[in-house]
Amino acid sequence: MAEDYVLFEASDAIATITINRPDKYNALNISVKKKLLEMFRQADKDTSVRVVILTGFGEKAFISGADVNEFVGRNSDTIKQVVNPSRDIAQFITAMDKPVITAVNGYALGGGCELALACDIRYASKNAQFGLPEIHLGTLPGNGGTVRLPRLVGLGIAKELILTGSRITADEAFRIGLVNKVFNSVEELRAGANELARILSRMPGVALGLAKKSIQESWELPLNEHLAVELDAFCKTFDTEDKEEGVNAFLEKRTPEFKHK
Ligand code: COA
Repeated sequence: MAEDYVLFEASDAIATITINRPDKYNALNISVKKKLLEMFRQADKDTSVRVVILTGFGEKAFISGADVNEFVGRNSDTIKQVVNPSRDIAQFITAMDKPVITAVNGYALGGGCELALACDIRYASKNAQFGLPEIHLGTLPGNGGTVRLPRLVGLGIAKELILTGSRITADEAFRIGLVNKVFNSVEELRAGANELARILSRMPGVALGLAKKSIQESWELPLNEHLAVELDAFCKTFDTEDKEEGVNAFLEKRTPEFKHK
């Protein structure tokens, strides 16, 4: 049942979304993707949730990519039924105000690597492996891999990874800037992602969302327009209670208590 292929748990302002299809290395078929998008929508709507963690069940795979079985017999038109649901998830993650941390606990291949690329912060366990192996299937990344990877790690490294379809270790992914942090075990990874989520959940929510949006705009807008977006976001925070609280707390030498308003 697709129902059980995606687990959702929310507590202490943190929603954890877990892909749970370990016998297929957490490969994403169309119904799993639809469920995954539904879970992200739920996390977005739930006002008690401030941060989202995306991870895979078990220790072997984060997501091994699109379910390759669904590539069979498709043409340039019918493959859109497979790839569009993946693109919808990536777009939703980048557009939502709440930060999304991904805890990559094993293979992050193809569409799995691309979903990780769409998240805001990537943490990985030592056993994680990253790659965009689509070239070996006679195709190429179709959910932002050729767009997001070069922007993150540079054109040369992205071209080598995408054109060879080779896999890299978590340490190498860290070296090239694909992941923010590497943990010695999956257990430590989960604790590290939770700790980061806890820190972010205590940040002023409005400013956090506006900061994420403003950073995201750098991918879409020319410098002057982006600077205008940043100024607008900055000024908006001056209409929030949290800005007042943050500034006063600093001046009064105490810890701020944000209300995300
Ligand atoms: N789609 C569908 N099934 C997948 C899958 C995928 N992306 N990745 C793994 N699986 C399935 C395998 O078919 C196998 O199923 P089976 O036991 O019913 O035969 C099971 O998961 C375990 O995979 P297996 O290949 O036997 O394990 P492994 O340890 O030898 O290798 C991987 C693991 C992840 C390296 C390998 O499965 C792989 O390369 N997967 C495909 C990655 C890929 O091309 N992704 C991009 C798709 S766009």
